[in-house]
Amino acid sequence: MKKITKLAFALFASTTFAFAHGDVSPQAVETKGLKNIAEDVIVNPFRGNELAMEIGKGAYNTNCARCHGLGAVSGGIAPDLRALGGPDDDTDEYFIGKVQDGAVRNGNVYMPPFKDVLTPTAIWTIRAWIETLNSDDL
Ligand code: HEC
Repeated sequence: MKKITKLAFALFASTTFAFAHGDVSPQAVETKGLKNIAEDVIVNPFRGNELAMEIGKGAYNTNCARCHGLGAVSGGIAPDLRALGGPDDDTDEYFIGKVQDGAVRNGNVYMPPFKDVLTPTAIWTIRAWIETLNSDDL
């Protein structure tokens, strides 16, 4: 019993820690003006879509920047997302899967899952924006 309580506390503490970086909690994103993207889409439908990129920039700042860095320039706590590459690198499916499921191993939340917060539509806007960033210096 004692062991279980300890474990529960550890889980709680690690989750709280992950969310305690910065003062912004995960937030749903308004995607009005864009068509709704289905769950099973695995190729970015918003590549080059201006409105999507604009929405994605805000969505990134609210939900991702505290770990992945302002302008997606990593400060070291989390991977630099510009390094995932663009249209030719075939990382769309990996990207959406990662954002939906997060990175949780042995009860440690390295990255929280976003599937209950962000719709696929919102996640793809973030992808569309990240792809516009210059990654030449990586
Ligand atoms: C609490 C900090 C945190 C937040 C918030 C966060 N991430 Fe992460 N993210 C991480 C960490 C840490 C990793 C590396 C996970 C690992 O060790 O497996 C990661 C990994 C990723 C990866 C895989 C990168 C790679 O090179 O393999 C993607 C894609 C990603 N995050 C996207 C996002 C997006 C998009 C958001 C916002 C919706 C976001 N993350 C929010 C911490 C965070």
